[in-house]
Amino acid sequence: PQKPFQTKLVLLGEAAVGKSSVVLRFVQNDFQENKEPTIGAAFLTQKCRLEDRLIKFEIWDTAGQERFHSLAPMYYRNAQASAVIYDVTKASSFEKAKSWVKELQRQANPNIVIALVGNKIDLLNETTAEAGEEEEDETATANESTPSGDSARAVPKDEAEAYAKEGGLLFFETSAKTGEGVVEVFTEIAKKIPID
Ligand code: GTP
Ligand code: MG
Repeated sequence: PQKPFQTKLVLLGEAAVGKSSVVLRFVQNDFQENKEPTIGAAFLTQKCRLEDRLIKFEIWDTAGQERFHSLAPMYYRNAQASAVIYDVTKASSFEKAKSWVKELQRQANPNIVIALVGNKIDLLNETTAEAGEEEEDETATANESTPSGDSARAVPKDEAEAYAKEGGLLFFETSAKTGEGVVEVFTEIAKKIPID
């Protein structure tokens, strides 16, 4: 059996974007509808098996509330990886994510692997229709029959993806609630971690 390769990963992002929920999904395959805000930071570990190696993530799940911002450098200082999370239904959270990316690029380990993650895609009132089949039907977009709980997308996927590409970041959209995309975030990060 291989010896796991330990990787310190820090989660950053505005309050309530779902950092703790994404980790809970990854580590315990669970979701809590009313998760309490993180105070300070939480520490969790989870192994991730790749074809050629075993990675043990040591995850620092930081608190997004502004009063905890000054603690963040303690957690990202020696991190090999970071997932910067925003909420696809909240534009301000994308701006905050970009400011975290800038801070990491200036202050963290220069080789840090950064993933930009748009969470809560389950809230979107979007169909995953085949590309190229844009509907321009006005009556179809009148919101009369929209079930409550559906939200409009506030951060266009192509805009976030272009930003990520420009900065050399991995990019994902996820739902901690349904689990969509969550494992991929950690697996793709793991693949990018240099072995020695
Ligand atoms: P802080 O610890 O304060 O920084 O917040 P956080 O980023 O850790 O957010 P948290 O995981 O606590 O989630 C905030 C709220 O959003 C909770 O009520 C979660 O249930 C909810 N939530 C998280 N992820 C999702 C998601 O993918 N979809 C939906 N619908 N709700 C989510
Ligand atoms: Mg939290």
